Amino acid sequence: MAKIVSFSNQKGGVGKTTSCVNIAAQIAGKHGKKVLLIDMDPQGNATSGLGLPKSKIKKTIYDVIIGRNDINEVIIKTKFKNLHVVPANIELAGAEPELYDMEEGSANFTKLAIESIKDEYDYIFIDCPPSLGMLTVKALSISDGVVIPMQCEFYSLEGISQLQNTIKRIKQLYNPGLQIVGILLTMYNGRLTLTNQVVAELRKYYADKLFKVPISRTVRLSEAPGYGEPICYHDPYGKGSLEYAAVAKELMLRI
Ligand SMILES: Nc1ncnc2c1ncn2[C@@H]1O[C@H](COP(=O)(O)OP(=O)(O)O)[C@@H](O)[C@H]1O
Ligand SMILES: [Mg+2]
Repeated sequence: MAKIVSFSNQKGGVGKTTSCVNIAAQIAGKHGKKVLLIDMDPQGNATSGLGLPKSKIKKTIYDVIIGRNDINEVIIKTKFKNLHVVPANIELAGAEPELYDMEEGSANFTKLAIESIKDEYDYIFIDCPPSLGMLTVKALSISDGVVIPMQCEFYSLEGISQLQNTIKRIKQLYNPGLQIVGILLTMYNGRLTLTNQVVAELRKYYADKLFKVPISRTVRLSEAPGYGEPICYHDPYGKGSLEYAAVAKELMLRI
């Protein structure tokens, strides 16, 4: 049975997609696990980051959410070992209001769809959009765990307590088993004073949640999606790849 893990943070540009894509590819390619990545962001960055041209994609997660297609009709095999993807594109932006309209207890197509394929994968990773809207609520409601990527900035600390409140509410309302798998520091630069202050603050409150290895800021990580390649293929022996490999290992121990 697959473990379902969402990558979530309502702030944009904190490394959710980069972490989701690279951890998924690492676990699939190097640990022999079968992995499905679900792109839950209308921007479709995870989709294009895996080399799939968004404009050519006909069926997306949106079709699953509204019950138009079976999830098996939407899954695409990527060219990377053991890694499948349910893509997204801008059409998914239309799902937010529709999800609001769906009354509680009405057909939960997404949950049913994912349950129907849980046996076929070891991990299902969900790349969430930068908001705490319905798409994120939906993703967290069906997840076993959540990874919170964050940058070492002052506002990140405020953001994280807001996200924690959302997680608490989702646990109460829909998903009591939801756990925080870990907080992942991204675009890390240990030479900055601010970084060290934020890390010290985080250690105070979330010591057991922080992944041991932070992800450094590197050009290779930012250029890889332009080539449609996860970092473990684009620059396998570079810093970014080694750091994501360490985080992937730790994640597999945690969930
Ligand atoms: N460790 C890193 N080093 C350098 N650039 C990074 C790193 N992580 C992410 N980026 C870049 O920062 C931007 C935002 O990252 P992204 O993963 O898209 O964030 P999010 O999904 O949270 O919006 C992207 O352009 C990405 O390529
Ligand atoms: Mg993203």
